[in-house]
Amino acid sequence: MEKRQELYAGKAKSVYTTDDPDLLIMHFRDDTSAFDGKKKESLARKGCVNNVFNAFIMARLEDAGIPTHFEKRLSDTESLVKRMDMIPVECVIRNVAAGSLVKRLGVEEGMALTPPTFELFLKNDEKSDPMINESLAETFGWATPEQLTRMKALTFKVNHVLKQLFAEGDMLLVDYKLEFGIFKGQVILGDEFSPDGCRLWDANTREKMDKDRFRQGLGGVIEAYEEVGRRLGIQFTH
Ligand SMILES: Nc1ncnc2c1ncn2[C@@H]1O[C@H](COP(=O)(O)OP(=O)(O)O)[C@@H](O)[C@H]1O
Ligand SMILES: [Mg+2]
Repeated sequence: MEKRQELYAGKAKSVYTTDDPDLLIMHFRDDTSAFDGKKKESLARKGCVNNVFNAFIMARLEDAGIPTHFEKRLSDTESLVKRMDMIPVECVIRNVAAGSLVKRLGVEEGMALTPPTFELFLKNDEKSDPMINESLAETFGWATPEQLTRMKALTFKVNHVLKQLFAEGDMLLVDYKLEFGIFKGQVILGDEFSPDGCRLWDANTREKMDKDRFRQGLGGVIEAYEEVGRRLGIQFTH
């Protein structure tokens, strides 16, 4: 697989074209950001940890019948993915109250959410990823009603698979964000699933094991990501 030009450099990953027009190389960098890119730092080993972690999770999701863009891991920090037209809508499921939901509604962090909530956000850093809904997405052309229905169903299916997987490692999947795209007319899961885009707590102590450690300056960020991986039986290559 020949790596050609850089297509896009995001906050944490860079995407490259290849000699196959349907495939991209996704490079996971050590760069870490929060608050719409306002807080930035480079954290040693993060690119490798997230790349290996993501490969493990995407394979589990594929096994469960969820279509993803993931093809294969190429190296410590690179993976091959299907080139998609991204849908600029982030799908969020929350099993437990935390983060912006706590601020917005004034509910207590840690409250169990039954049934889990489903929210949509526009992926737009300049606008600070505003919360949207299906009507706005349709009117402004961000996603069709059919795509939104599919994205919602797949996001719940991911919840079913991953809640169980993390529970087996004594972790609570508090919430997570997914991004979808279109490949050959089908809605499939894109981007990444890693402790950067979800909240994971130790099931017993409720200790944070995700990017909130970075947001809140708690330290031990990558050590916590590695512990999450260790509990899932992931062998890191670094
Ligand atoms: N399969 C794919 N095809 C094309 N673009 C993708 C694919 N998967 C993810 N992307 C996009 O690539 C970028 C990944 O880099 P990232 O650092 O996460 O960027 P951002 O700062 O925009 O979130 C994101 O903009 C994401 O939407
Ligand atoms: Mg991103």
